[in-house]
Amino acid sequence: MSGSPKIELRKARLEDREKAIWVESKSTPNLSYVPDVFETFVSDEVGEFSVAEVDGEVVGCGKFTVVPDGSAWLETLRVIPERQGIGVGKRFYERWLEMAGRQGVPTMRMYTGVGNVVSKGLAERYGLRLAETFRGASFPCENGSKGALQRSFKPVTDPERAIRLLMPLSEGWRGFHVVNRTFYKLSPALCGHLVERGMVYEDPDSGSVITLGARFQPERMLHIGVFGGDAEACLGFALEKGLERGVARLNCDFPTSATHVEEALTEHGFSFTPSEFICMEIHLDS
Ligand SMILES: CC(C)(COP(=O)(O)OP(=O)(O)OC[C@H]1O[C@@H](n2cnc3c(N)ncnc32)[C@H](O)[C@@H]1OP(=O)(O)O)[C@@H](O)C(=O)NCCC(=O)NCCS
Repeated sequence: MSGSPKIELRKARLEDREKAIWVESKSTPNLSYVPDVFETFVSDEVGEFSVAEVDGEVVGCGKFTVVPDGSAWLETLRVIPERQGIGVGKRFYERWLEMAGRQGVPTMRMYTGVGNVVSKGLAERYGLRLAETFRGASFPCENGSKGALQRSFKPVTDPERAIRLLMPLSEGWRGFHVVNRTFYKLSPALCGHLVERGMVYEDPDSGSVITLGARFQPERMLHIGVFGGDAEACLGFALEKGLERGVARLNCDFPTSATHVEEALTEHGFSFTPSEFICMEIHLDS
C-alpha cells in the first residue's frame, strides 16, 4: 500500500481500555495512570478522551479536560513510538482547538518535561507559550517523625471562606495549584471545587491554610496544592494526613520562582526532582 497512513481520531469507548493502556505503556513506560482513570476519562461528557487510529489500529490517546476555571487541560497525550512523527500528535491539537472553539473555552494549558523537545515544540506549533516552570518535591511519610500534633487544623466547608483564605496565596504560588501534575489556575471557582472535594484545611490558631488531596491514585501519594501561614504547621499537618491515609509519600509541585516554598520544603526534608517541568498555555480569546 502506498501513500501516507490514514489517521483517524474518535472519542474513546469503554472497549478501548486495553488498547489505551497498551499505548500508555509503550509511550511513557515509566508513567502509568490510564488504568486508574480510564472509566472516569471515558465518561467525561464535557471534555473528551480520544484515541487515534492509524490504518484501523489504536496508536495514540489524548484527553481534553475542562477544569473549574473554564479552561481546558490537555493531558495524557501519547503516541506509540512506532507511529510518532507522522502527524498523530498534531491531529490531537487540531481536534482540541476545534473543541475549544466550539465550547468557547478561553484558555488551553498543558505540561511537559523541560527536556521534552517534541512535546514542547508541538505545543508551540499551536501557539502555546511558557506560562511557568515548576519543580517537584516529595517526602517519604515513613521518614516523618511525629512532631506536635496539628490538632487545630479543620476542614474548610464554606467556599467563600476558602476563597478568602486561598486567593491571597495566588501571587506567591504564581497563580497555580498543582495536583497529580494537573495545573489548575487558582481561582474562586477552583476554591469551590477544592471545598467540594474536602481538600481545604485551615488552622485559625496559626493563621495557616493548606490544600491536600489527589485527583486520582489517592492511595499512592498525598498532594499538597498550596499552603500559607505557618509552613511548619502546614507540612506537619500534611504528614499527619499522609500517615492517616497510609500513603507512601507527600508530593508538592511548585513554581521554581517561589523561593519561599522551596525553602520551606527544604527545611522540612523534602527532596526535589532533578529536572524541571513547564506549563504552557494559549489564550484563545485574545
Ligand atoms: C509528544 C508526542 C505526543 C508527539 O506526537 P507525534 O505524533 O509524534 O507528533 P506529530 O508527528 O504529530 O508532531 C510532530 C511535531 O512536533 C514538533 N516537533 C517534533 N520534533 C521536534 C523537535 N526536535 N523540536 C521541536 N519541535 C519538534 C513539530 O511541531 C512537529 O511538527 P512539524 O514537523 O510539522 O512542525 C509523542 O512523541 C509521544 O507520545 N511522546 C511520548 C509521550 C509524551 O512525551 N507525551 C507528551 C507529554 S507528557
